[in-house]
Amino acid sequence: MRKKVTVVGAGNVGANTAQKIAAKELADVVLVDVVEGVPQGKGLDMLESAPVEGYDVRITGANGYDETAGSDIVVITAGFPRKPGMSRDDLLLANYEVVKSATEQAVKQSPNAILILVTNPLDAMCWTALKVSGFPRERVIGMAGVLDTARFRTFIAEELGVSFENVTAMVLGGHGDTMVPLVRFTNVSGIPLSELTDQATIDRMVQRTRDGGAEIVKYLKTGSAYYAPAASTVEMVESILKDKKKVLPCAVYLQGEYGFNELFVGVPVKLGSKGVEKIYEIKLDEGEKAALKKSADAVEELVSVLKKQAK
Ligand code: APR
Repeated sequence: MRKKVTVVGAGNVGANTAQKIAAKELADVVLVDVVEGVPQGKGLDMLESAPVEGYDVRITGANGYDETAGSDIVVITAGFPRKPGMSRDDLLLANYEVVKSATEQAVKQSPNAILILVTNPLDAMCWTALKVSGFPRERVIGMAGVLDTARFRTFIAEELGVSFENVTAMVLGGHGDTMVPLVRFTNVSGIPLSELTDQATIDRMVQRTRDGGAEIVKYLKTGSAYYAPAASTVEMVESILKDKKKVLPCAVYLQGEYGFNELFVGVPVKLGSKGVEKIYEIKLDEGEKAALKKSADAVEELVSVLKKQAK
């Protein structure tokens, strides 16, 4: 039987995610959005490219959740993107309501699904979905690290003039200004980054990675990035649906790992058919630990605002 993925939010990130899932023939896709006609229109448009592109999956659009019943994965991209001058955190309360309602409705129809959160501020939205769904932590996962890592890898490949594919990088922490690109675990075909370029260049690439989302927002002016976020989400979807067991940095609910409790933080995990199948706890040096703590504190601050809101 074919797999089924629901994508909530038929905007830039959602539509691109749906399109990439279809193009890779990973699953049938249901696009859901509150705006009447948009998910139906975009879904039909994508379906009509199937004969040309040669994929055999169904893509449908809906304004409700009946059509989403029995989904294997629900990707939540619904909500507001940021505009120039805004941080991801400025979206907190508006997107809390959106993610809360989307999760409530989606999990009623798909109680066994794996939830992948994309809406920002990411780590706080993951917390919202975990609490609202009541799902075990293995099935509530945030997409951030794959994207942040992809940005870091892009800058490294461009700087060194090497294949993007050869660059392996690691970015931990929350999906915000305090994220932690780990240079020690970043290499080109096994050659540590520090062997290939000087510290000033590394520092510049690290900072550009932290500001990667804002750089795109500054160009676009009316919204935020969507091609790389969609591609990153689909890598996670594929690893789960095909049980590939890829090791990817994802936002997961930590319960003691890395010294954090009941908090979503980006760390390396194994993604397979059960969702998060393993959390890798790597040994960090003092500087890395301090940076991760700072990043986790920033997430905790946002979640404390939501805890008050949820009362
Ligand atoms: N249920 C379903 N869809 C909703 C809801 C809701 N309650 N509220 C808003 N939406 C839809 C909007 O109608 C819109 O089509 O979510 C979509 C968001 O699309 P865009 O405005 O294009 O935003 P996008 O760039 O896709 O970003 C969405 O992902 O990366 C994050 O920071 C980004 O939080 C933002 C989210």
